[in-house]
Amino acid sequence: MKAMVLKSFGGPESFELCEVPKPVPRAGQVLVRVYATSINPLDYQVRRGDYPDLVQLPAITGHDVSGVVEEVGPGVTTFAPGDEVWYTPQIFDGPGSYAEYHVAAESIIGKKPPSLSHLEAASLTLVGGTVWEALTVRAALRVGESILIHGGAGGVGHVAIQLAKAIGARVFTTVREANFEFARSMGADVVIDYEKEDYVDAINRETGGRGVDVVFDTIGGNTLSRSPDVLAQLGRVVSIVDITQPQNLVQAWGKNASYHFVFTRQNRGKLDELSALVERGQLRPHVGAVYALADIALAHARLESPNNGIRGKIVIAVEPSLIS
Ligand SMILES: NC(=O)c1ccc[n+]([C@@H]2O[C@H](COP(=O)([O-])OP(=O)(O)OC[C@H]3O[C@@H](n4cnc5c(N)ncnc54)[C@H](OP(=O)(O)O)[C@@H]3O)[C@@H](O)[C@H]2O)c1
Repeated sequence: MKAMVLKSFGGPESFELCEVPKPVPRAGQVLVRVYATSINPLDYQVRRGDYPDLVQLPAITGHDVSGVVEEVGPGVTTFAPGDEVWYTPQIFDGPGSYAEYHVAAESIIGKKPPSLSHLEAASLTLVGGTVWEALTVRAALRVGESILIHGGAGGVGHVAIQLAKAIGARVFTTVREANFEFARSMGADVVIDYEKEDYVDAINRETGGRGVDVVFDTIGGNTLSRSPDVLAQLGRVVSIVDITQPQNLVQAWGKNASYHFVFTRQNRGKLDELSALVERGQLRPHVGAVYALADIALAHARLESPNNGIRGKIVIAVEPSLIS
């Protein structure tokens, strides 16, 4: 099979299109023909060598799959050849999905929502699973509460806006002005131009100084230390971003705040919950651009550039007929 193989850590050109052996499913595993995958910041972080101890070269990376079951290993009961499936491969544990075929444990695979194309489905598994865990499990966001979602036009952010609205929350989000309409179309109630206004001022103005119940951090920097300035009493902060510098959380005491850190975990349950939202019309991932498997270097370079014009996700059409 064809796969994009990472030969060395470095720039986007570090991938090489190679012929490699097709994997064979063992007991409890499913062999999936990959129709589409996507690019996440994790992919370029791995590529440039941020996790040298966790990634053994040469490596096949890639963290989303939408595809069709080709073969099942002994003991698999949930799936049969021909089923359309979606999932996030185990991260840092075996090959990823920049390849024509991928093998995964039955327990982390879900049935693809019928109303999503393979391109759309591949754009949602990792970001959707992360957002589900962050908002429903960790923040326990409730009807009538309010949430500040940083980076509302991004892969994670545009899904977070939709899930928060589906829960029944009031959504504030930070985006650049060019993405105001996009963020509103996802359901945001209040959009804040992060280039022109300090979000702390904007939140305090919009909430009459009360603050929001939840902050969802997809950006990093000093967001954790500044969150108490925008949090209501008993507020929750959920971060999905590596902390690169110490942060002073002394102000969090005064808000009775709690902080949560999420590194996405795979399971079928989350995928089924996302699928239900999709089929009820409450969640639709936005595919901002599509690249061929052989053009993964271009896709990486695009996602890595600031102000890249992408809304939502960059998707890779592994099955060539999916690209128009
Ligand atoms: N822990 C986990 O399990 C997990 C899972 C998924 C993602 N993540 C992490 O979450 C982060 C976001 O991922 P993603 O997939 O959403 O990335 P993405 O698709 O690149 O989106 C990032 C968004 O942030 C916007 N942005 C940049 N600076 C901003 C600022 N100061 N304020 C507000 N928005 C800003 C960008 O918009 P512009 O066009 O305006 O630049 C872009 O829309 C990454 O660091 C990723 O590694 C972690």
